[in-house]
Amino acid sequence: MTHDVLVPAELEADDALVAVRDATAPDGLVFVHGEAAKPLATPWQVAAERAAMINPERLPSGAVLDVACGSGVQLAALAAILERPAIGVELDPSRARASAHNLRAVAAWFGALEAPWFLASRVLVGDGTAAEDVLHVVEGASIGLLQLDPARPRNSRTHDLEEMAPSPSAVLAAWAPHLARGPDGQAVLLDLSPRLTHDQRLAVEAVVDTHLPGVQRTWVWGSRGGGRVDRLSAWLGGASTPDVARRFVRYPADGSQPLIVEGGRALPLGDDLPQQVRRPPRRGEQVSLIDAALLASGLVEPWLRGHLGEKASLAWTAVDGRRPQVHHDVPLVLASNERGLVQATGRVAAVVHHAPNEDTVDDLVALALEHDVARLTLRCALPADLQPKLQGSLDRQLSRRHGRRQAFLCHAGQGPEVHLLCVDPAVQEGAR
Ligand SMILES: C[S@@+](CC[C@H](N)C(=O)[O-])C[C@H]1O[C@@H](n2cnc3c(N)ncnc32)[C@H](O)[C@@H]1O
Repeated sequence: MTHDVLVPAELEADDALVAVRDATAPDGLVFVHGEAAKPLATPWQVAAERAAMINPERLPSGAVLDVACGSGVQLAALAAILERPAIGVELDPSRARASAHNLRAVAAWFGALEAPWFLASRVLVGDGTAAEDVLHVVEGASIGLLQLDPARPRNSRTHDLEEMAPSPSAVLAAWAPHLARGPDGQAVLLDLSPRLTHDQRLAVEAVVDTHLPGVQRTWVWGSRGGGRVDRLSAWLGGASTPDVARRFVRYPADGSQPLIVEGGRALPLGDDLPQQVRRPPRRGEQVSLIDAALLASGLVEPWLRGHLGEKASLAWTAVDGRRPQVHHDVPLVLASNERGLVQATGRVAAVVHHAPNEDTVDDLVALALEHDVARLTLRCALPADLQPKLQGSLDRQLSRRHGRRQAFLCHAGQGPEVHLLCVDPAVQEGAR
């Protein structure tokens, strides 16, 4: 199969491409998309931060190759930030054209239209696994970084590796022999379905070991909030960070610097999800509802211990679902940029032996007032129509009174009825 070649530095206008605003891109950086490609595109903020996380000194010399480049946004961020020529390959011709235009838009935004990396960049229309053919077209260019973000079937239940197009095993088999080596061997950035199970991740490790035996790796969980893992990727060899087995990256909605949690154990040593316990929290203990995406990364316990101390006692009453819940003996005090990793934290002020409903809401208000509460947030599973009604009633009744603290109501982990009123010890001055 031969590949058509697009030269981003020599493009003509293309009316078939549609400009689509990426809310995470700075003013003046506008991307275009081929038909139906927008949902596949990596948001600029994520693409740029990922590129900035690669250490250029550990990267082998040579171009950035993206063998399924889609809109080219990730490829363009890597090429512009690392100042390496981009080689994109894309099966769909309109997406390939969009990639070439987006590469140029990024180069223009970086003031790099005359930069050697941009002038040498190419986008090929065709199969990214046809390594010999691609290398022939780019005249045997050296490949410093291989990026793969394969297409995944929408609505897939299994998230099987072989459902990815092109499959990581086909890409690694085709390209591993052609990748340049640096101090940490070859460099590969492999994007995977965020919903891979631990066993599926181990299957990825096995594929990696077949083609890049023993290569160093950093697994990265990316989240844009809401407790969801949006992106799971394996950063291999020269793209990995020595001695960092896992990294969790939270991209704040306001576009500010991402929050990074690093450490943990290598993946083959376990998924490192906390164990649930049967002992419910007691009055006076602290309860925290943790971001579900941080928990999924297997980094939550080292992160908590970093804040609470090695000797703190930790017990998990929920480790799955939307509200992972842990109780501990010392308060969790967080810097403002870390608060997004915890949905709520507070001291158990009272155990409530009835579920919140329209009959019990007044009792809850009375209990909240006993504990000087100005706002009580319901953080327990409730029917979708009941939740806003109860929250509205609590807000209305408490706003007319004189409480000064924030509080939340959560399950106690002892059947559906028992709940905990947890209060933030901080007093909101001026609230009274
Ligand atoms: C998830 S998208 C990549 C998105 C990209 N990272 C971005 O920032 O826009 C995956 C792309 O792989 C392309 N693709 C699938 N199989 C391919 C193959 N064998 N060779 C090249 N591209 C392929 C699809 O057409 C799709 O555009």
